Amino acid sequence: MRVLVTGGAGYIGSVVAAQLLEAGHEVSVLDDLSTGHRDAVPAGCRLFEGGIRERGAEVLAETGAEAVLHFAARSVVPESVAHPERYWDGNLGCTLALLEAMRTHGVGRIVFSSTAAVYGEPESSPIPEDAPVRPGNPYGASKAAIDTALTEYARLHGIGAVSLRYFNVAGAYAGLGERHDPETHLIPIVLQVARGLRESVAVYGEDYPTADGSCVRDYIHVADLAEAHLLALDGCRPGEHRVFNLGNGTGFSVREVIDVCRKVTGHPVPAVSAERRPGDPATLVASSESARRELGWTPRRPELHRIVADAWEFHTGRTAADTAAG
Ligand code: UFG
Repeated sequence: MRVLVTGGAGYIGSVVAAQLLEAGHEVSVLDDLSTGHRDAVPAGCRLFEGGIRERGAEVLAETGAEAVLHFAARSVVPESVAHPERYWDGNLGCTLALLEAMRTHGVGRIVFSSTAAVYGEPESSPIPEDAPVRPGNPYGASKAAIDTALTEYARLHGIGAVSLRYFNVAGAYAGLGERHDPETHLIPIVLQVARGLRESVAVYGEDYPTADGSCVRDYIHVADLAEAHLLALDGCRPGEHRVFNLGNGTGFSVREVIDVCRKVTGHPVPAVSAERRPGDPATLVASSESARRELGWTPRRPELHRIVADAWEFHTGRTAADTAAG
């Protein structure tokens, strides 16, 4: 299939682009390179540099794309709290422009990067897809609004849409890993400490209602997440908007993650208590039963140790076996 990957120079988009190529698809990438990296776009993809509003319609026309996998977005929760307008414009506004471009050019399928952040502080755990959508920060709110738009585009214009609600993505695949600047995500920050690039990691809040007081998240390997996108692409049904949570169903606290990183890296990783970070829910753990049942998805790399080891290998260039051997 001819597919367009928006945000294909970013962390998750580049891994999905790589897997799409491996599966034999013809892959184009549209990315403004504001946070992505040119060298992350897998060889074999055609790269179009620019924004969705500026170039989306033109690129769809030129490539003859039959489907879009839409990753391009802002995705930092604390930034969204400080600058909500960036999220309404950059996430919702750009996606509406993309949907119109798709409609104009008769592109009938979209797989969208949604997020666990749409659920806010959930009532129960693990979270199923029919849990109330009550985002606790503008990032989650912008993604929830896009999900609503997708439902309407499917109902009224007949597109086939799948929203994948990611929990906490980590790890690396085929030399593609997380490279944000500045980095805000827990595992890459802890690994920066292990590499001697930071003195310590701050634990944001230790007074949450969790076993050890730090926040609990469901960490999923980026390669497993990517595999779900290929299944979702096949699972787009005209006139339907399908929604799936993607996680492993197991929660790890910030303190537990740091401990696993210590074991994988062999580094002591000093950790210091810090204030809560605005917008953080206490616990986010997925029920991915629907994705397993309806898409036939099985995460093949669910162990946190493996997820961290692959991230560590990416950051150090060492192999997981070397790491285990010290
Ligand atoms: N944390 C720290 N110290 C740090 C960085 C993070 O204690 O230096 C904590 C956070 O407070 C949070 C947990 O580690 O409790 C995970 O934080 P991340 O920033 O790694 O990830 P988030 O849970 O905030 O968000 C990520 C994605 C979102 C997605 C969400 C879904 O960035 O896009 O997972 O769970 F919506």
